[in-house]
Amino acid sequence: MDVKNKIVVVTGASSGIGLATARLLTERGAKLALVSRSKEKLEALSKELPESIAIPADMTKPNEIKRMVEQTMDHFGRIDILVNNAGQGYYATIEKTDLDIFHHIFDLNLMGPLIAMQQVVPIMRRQGRGAIINISSGTALMRLPNLGVYSSSKRALAGLSLTAREELKNDHIVVGVVYPYITLTNFGKNTIKDPQGEDRQPGNSPTPADTAEYIALKILEGIVNGDAEIFAHDWMMKMAKGGA
Ligand SMILES: NC(=O)c1ccc[n+]([C@@H]2O[C@H](COP(=O)([O-])OP(=O)(O)OC[C@H]3O[C@@H](n4cnc5c(N)ncnc54)[C@H](OP(=O)(O)O)[C@@H]3O)[C@@H](O)[C@H]2O)c1
Repeated sequence: MDVKNKIVVVTGASSGIGLATARLLTERGAKLALVSRSKEKLEALSKELPESIAIPADMTKPNEIKRMVEQTMDHFGRIDILVNNAGQGYYATIEKTDLDIFHHIFDLNLMGPLIAMQQVVPIMRRQGRGAIINISSGTALMRLPNLGVYSSSKRALAGLSLTAREELKNDHIVVGVVYPYITLTNFGKNTIKDPQGEDRQPGNSPTPADTAEYIALKILEGIVNGDAEIFAHDWMMKMAKGGA
């Protein structure tokens, strides 16, 4: 789908990949609903991006997700594209996994996108078409120690996305999933860590870390081409096919 003049909801727009995506899509002529918890950051960004609106919402709270979609509809009257990008990491072994943190990670990385999709699908169906991009992670394709909970949430999100793609194809709603790998954002700093202070392992990446702007281009590519799966790098595609 071409993004010019389209109404796009980007969650996690206050930082990193979401911020870069909001800027890029605005540059290409889209009108943005900017969503995250940080009201001040979103309002400052909204001043920078013409015709955008700031909608503070916590994506772990179903009522706030519903209100966010309603506010977008009240303001713009339609939603063409949803980018489910808000997310957080968790670094702990399976043995040491805290169950409250497990629920938080799944609420944010999986339930939030699911509820947002449930809210926008009827709107897109009425409009005759739509595009949904869910941001998974390259770790969903791997077996990295300490990232079991995070990577499981992202693996589940990929599964949900590809199933939704099949279910919605006759409604002309195209669902795609993007797999970034290590990207230079606040993600590492915001990752919940056990033991406290220990950072996530970078893994043996065959490529250096990406910029958020590079991943934003991949997200745009996914929207424009309507691909099912968009990988930050070709070597990740081999992993998805079980070749690595
Ligand atoms: N960076 C990487 O290496 C990497 C690799 C693979 C996948 N990813 C995925 O890419 C996505 C974006 O991450 P990033 O790298 O840009 O990290 P980031 O810089 O930490 O940004 C995360 C964004 O999510 C928002 N967010 C967090 N909790 C939220 C909540 N409860 N409700 C609403 N918004 C919330 C944050 O905004 P507020 O704090 O304002 O709420 C922020 O805008 C995530 O889904 C992440 O899992 C990242």
